[in-house]
Amino acid sequence: MQIFKVNGGRKLSGEIVSGGAKNAVLPILAAAVLIDGEAVIEDVPELSDTYSAVRILSHLGVKVNYCNTGKTASVNASQISSFEIPDDMMKEMRSSIFFLGPIIGRTGSCRISYPGGCDIGLRPIDMHISALEQMGVKVTHTAKHLYFSADKGLRGAKIALRFPSVGTTENIICAAVTAKGETVITNAAREPEVVDLVKFLNAAGAKIKFESGGRITIQGVPKLHSLHHTVMPDRIAAATILAGTAAAGGLVTVRNCQPLDMEAILPLFEAMGSSIYCGRDYVTINSGKRPKALPEKLTTMVYPGFPTDAQSVIMGALCKASGTSIIEETIFENRYRHVPEMQKMGADIVVSGQTAVIKGVKRLHGARVKATDLRGGAGMVIAGLTAEGETEIEDIRFIDRGYEQLEVTFASLGADIKRI
Ligand code: EPZ
Repeated sequence: MQIFKVNGGRKLSGEIVSGGAKNAVLPILAAAVLIDGEAVIEDVPELSDTYSAVRILSHLGVKVNYCNTGKTASVNASQISSFEIPDDMMKEMRSSIFFLGPIIGRTGSCRISYPGGCDIGLRPIDMHISALEQMGVKVTHTAKHLYFSADKGLRGAKIALRFPSVGTTENIICAAVTAKGETVITNAAREPEVVDLVKFLNAAGAKIKFESGGRITIQGVPKLHSLHHTVMPDRIAAATILAGTAAAGGLVTVRNCQPLDMEAILPLFEAMGSSIYCGRDYVTINSGKRPKALPEKLTTMVYPGFPTDAQSVIMGALCKASGTSIIEETIFENRYRHVPEMQKMGADIVVSGQTAVIKGVKRLHGARVKATDLRGGAGMVIAGLTAEGETEIEDIRFIDRGYEQLEVTFASLGADIKRI
């Protein structure tokens, strides 16, 4: 089992080029199932979740050629030979649920096992199911599997989401692009990753429009054709590098990043005492030795609010801040599993319900800790960068799901971190 070994206390400096967004590339690879032709996708980050998605595509009969050096995937779904996702692949990656809409949109049927909860919460799929039923999909289930079928084809519907769920919005869009008639989604998710999926599908001939106030309209078209798309930059990966610099101190530039996607994140670093400079496609941060605590409570929200995926990395930077910060997690019910691991390093964090109070301490000490989940693990790396002595982080397979060699990135900026 691989671990990260981090010796904290070093300032960071230099420049890195961030990769394509995990949460854009997964729905885009899934949506390639809808394309009766070739989709050439650039800036596909080399993540274990990318390989999981490629395995599912191959199982469906889709031809995939992913060159990890060039980060380009060419996907040809002219022939589809299955509408089932094997149980082991569903278990391997919970985000396999993002294949549901594309498979039904293309074949009219789908069989999956329950995606199951994961480390950060139960993650039910009730909204996915009810939206598809409104589009004419019949859903039945056995103890192990869910069966979806639209014998008379998919029809457009007016769907009001009780919550702007990212995955549900994306699955509806994929089911609707070749359905009969118009689909309108109200209270839809507006995350930049959803916008990137829409760009991908419209480049293939879909007719999707973002209107104001979280309303998306989709006119069904007969079929989708070949296209070329470059995946948007990963705003959470960029936030992770910036949080590491805010914690450890230093001067770092993150290239291939969209400051406009990070408007709820960047001001936090300024509130913590760093200076931030933005260009069209880069962010530079200049941080002193010790960050300040956040002056106000930080609440995770749907876009354009502060993203839940950046909560643990900001917390990692606040552990040694001067003062007390408060975070409220409103999106997932179990997204503080990194807290006990940070406490092992001497962090003073008290969680009650969905609120975490982080009292900045002068010193963190190295310890043997675990990555509890993808973003929690990234938070542990950041705590390790500022701790005295050596921190060993286990279960880094979680981190590899969403980051391209996070240790190499931080080491290239001067951190003492190695994969063992
Ligand atoms: C996407 O997950 C992201 N994953 C998550 O990133 C991200 O945290 C999340 O959106 C919120 O931004 C991908 O894009 C691959 P949701 P998703 O549906 O679509 C509840 C990471 O670390 N809900 O917006 O699954 C759900 O339980 C990952 O990169 C229902 O109750 O998130 C959660 O509490 C983690 N019923 C809330 O909505 C449903 O049918 C938000 O979930 C669907 C969701």
